[in-house]
Amino acid sequence: MTRVLFVCLGNICRSPTAHGVFLHKVSRSGMADLIEVDSAGTAAYHIGKAPDARATAAAARRGYDLSPLRARQAKPVDFQRYDYVLAMDSQNLADLRDICPADYQGHLGLFLEFAGLSGAEVPDPYYGGDAGFERVLDLVEQAADGLLQRIRTSR
Ligand code: 4NP
Repeated sequence: MTRVLFVCLGNICRSPTAHGVFLHKVSRSGMADLIEVDSAGTAAYHIGKAPDARATAAAARRGYDLSPLRARQAKPVDFQRYDYVLAMDSQNLADLRDICPADYQGHLGLFLEFAGLSGAEVPDPYYGGDAGFERVLDLVEQAADGLLQRIRTSR
């Protein structure tokens, strides 16, 4: 089993989008029994909430269902379970490094590395308009393809 955790700040916009898109691609690839997917936020503000309605609507227009997802906060024990812990931006990554055990053997890094975009961030769409949510989906779709390819070749 390969386990992937996507992390942003609130777990209501970017990481649920990555969660839903990647799960869809995993299912379509026939690897649903081999890859586990989850998402979390570094902050506690939105614990228990469904994804932002704008993220859910934008994802649905491209055929992804975010409606079953509920926000939770990332915690140190997540590093015992997840082989890939993938941050949406550099601040999320710094916050994850703060709670990551020193002996973590998995991959902690920025999600967009898997889109070939070294150092790039998924911009926070929370305070902007609908275009921001489309941009998130464009970036997430690219990186999700790269991540699936990476997992497939490393298995
Ligand atoms: P996310 O977006 O980290 O992509 O889920 C945000 C959600 C909520 C807030 C900020 C960003 N907030 O400040 O409440």
